[in-house]
Amino acid sequence: MDREAKNKILIFGGTGYLGTYMVKASIKLGHPTFVFARPITPQSTLNKINLHEEFESVGVTIIQGELKEHEKIVAILRQVDIVISLLPFPQVPDQIHIIEAIKVAGNIKRFLPSEFGVEEDRLSFLPPFEACLDEKRKVRRAVEASGIPYTYVSANCFGAYFLNYLLRPHEQQEDVIIYGSGEAKGKYFKKVHVPEEELVKLTETLPFPDNVRASVLHGLFVKGDLANYELGENDLEASSLYPDYKYTTIDQLLDVFLVDPPKPALATF
Ligand SMILES: NC(=O)c1ccc[n+]([C@@H]2O[C@H](COP(=O)([O-])OP(=O)(O)OC[C@H]3O[C@@H](n4cnc5c(N)ncnc54)[C@H](OP(=O)(O)O)[C@@H]3O)[C@@H](O)[C@H]2O)c1
Repeated sequence: MDREAKNKILIFGGTGYLGTYMVKASIKLGHPTFVFARPITPQSTLNKINLHEEFESVGVTIIQGELKEHEKIVAILRQVDIVISLLPFPQVPDQIHIIEAIKVAGNIKRFLPSEFGVEEDRLSFLPPFEACLDEKRKVRRAVEASGIPYTYVSANCFGAYFLNYLLRPHEQQEDVIIYGSGEAKGKYFKKVHVPEEELVKLTETLPFPDNVRASVLHGLFVKGDLANYELGENDLEASSLYPDYKYTTIDQLLDVFLVDPPKPALATF
């Protein structure tokens, strides 16, 4: 009974870094879950094949196809209620195909475009990352113009993602790089400071996509104003939605990293 009442969720990019968490969470919460994934081919990695099998074993329906297969996407959309896109940065503009299909299907209750990063309408970064954010802004405007109900999720820095990127205790490095002049925790480390001017220079000189990563780091750790804005009447601080959820603290996460480090992840730009 309960399962019948649950919204059906279709996820694009469900086999990726964030997608894998999202698909498992959707299933765990009892939502009939569909994943639109590019077809398995002889070139597909064993990891991808295994992930498809794992998803199917827990009840996920995988639809193999390409984003340009309009009719196929419209047909799947008509079977679901909510659409979540978790496509990586290079495919952000391709979400226009999803928006067009949602308009034609006409039944989607809510669309969550691939955001899950910074609040790009209220923040600005150095040019390499700004160029990426401009693509996300264009998608926001297209969603708004379409009239489809939407939610934008600004996840800022996912704890595990950025801790894993910045600090890998299991690698037993002696050096830790400090972006800006922040006070570091941890008496065993030799601090290597990267002054702001040097980081700005890196955004101008490093090849793509490392220049993007440098400008992300500049915005997050030197400017540090990631969530430095007031919430408006249409904004919701996500933890208020789930007051009973037990969050993992940074200390707990570092303990996890010491005994069972997650695989390093690096977002694609
Ligand atoms: N705030 C943070 O700390 C943080 C960290 C990471 C990511 N993010 C955000 O989260 C969102 C998802 O990023 P992610 O790192 O999870 O993505 P990802 O793992 O790089 O990719 C997600 C999926 O997109 C599909 N895909 C990849 N290339 C494609 C292509 N050429 N055409 C069509 N589909 C393609 C793949 O699925 P199939 O092979 O199954 O088609 C892939 O598994 C992005 O908006 C990103 O900015 C935020």
